[in-house]
Amino acid sequence: MLEVLHLAVNYRGVCAVEDVSFRLEAGQLVGIIGPNGAGKSTMLKAMLGLIPASEGVIRYHQRSLKDQLARVAYIPQRSQIDWDYPIAVKNVVMMARTRHTGWFRSPSRYSQEVVKSALMRVGMWEFKDRQIGELSGGQQQRVFLAQALAQEAELFFFDEPFVGVDKKTEAVIFKVFDELKHQGKTLLVVGHELGEVSRQYDRFLLINKHIIAEGTRSQVMTAENIQKAYGDNVILLRG
Ligand SMILES: Nc1ncnc2c1ncn2[C@@H]1O[C@H](COP(=O)(O)OP(=O)(O)OP(=O)(O)O)[C@@H](O)[C@H]1O
Ligand SMILES: [Mg+2]
Repeated sequence: MLEVLHLAVNYRGVCAVEDVSFRLEAGQLVGIIGPNGAGKSTMLKAMLGLIPASEGVIRYHQRSLKDQLARVAYIPQRSQIDWDYPIAVKNVVMMARTRHTGWFRSPSRYSQEVVKSALMRVGMWEFKDRQIGELSGGQQQRVFLAQALAQEAELFFFDEPFVGVDKKTEAVIFKVFDELKHQGKTLLVVGHELGEVSRQYDRFLLINKHIIAEGTRSQVMTAENIQKAYGDNVILLRG
């Protein structure tokens, strides 16, 4: 369904992602893990065509993913976004609807309903009129999750959604992931969490420039693979 073939990315001649190939089925929650600087964010961005790939093909249902970006919701790593921009929470979520409504038309009643229901699902409806910059990190992350939901996408790319969020937000995110999965959506989630929460994933890709291992938790989380990806400085959490 989603196929990545021989993806490679260079930044000014320096290789960040090298010969990455994998294939995903619908309805899966897939964790992408690897150390800092492994190329996880780069890989997602290159798959979406946000940065140029030096090689590789990305296909979704046999067609180039770049021609079907309306079917993908992407939530970037939070550190890469500047939240000083003054915009109310409900308008952040409404931005996901502009593709449906166009920039200059007022949102349809349906879009307004979609926005409301997305904010309710993440427990942020009561904050709808707040400025996004006035929210906590976890609350902001829930608003971006709502924005992704409002897009009514099929594929979801999340870059480190759990970094710096509180337990409640973590629970909300996992609940929504589960719902999306059961609706047959496919989720690619970057994290570096090797512990408890990783049980909820169907598959993992362990990367450090190239793919070190892929498969189920027990196939990927072996001491040998972790050592290959992270070097000797990591303690494998067992359980
Ligand atoms: N815009 C850029 N220009 C040049 N080099 C970059 C750029 N963005 C990332 N890199 C380099 O590419 C490599 C991969 O970076 P990337 O951000 O994809 O890693 P990551 O796995 O997402 O790391 P993290 O866990 O810290 O988010 C790193 O060596 C990084 O320094
Ligand atoms: Mg990253």
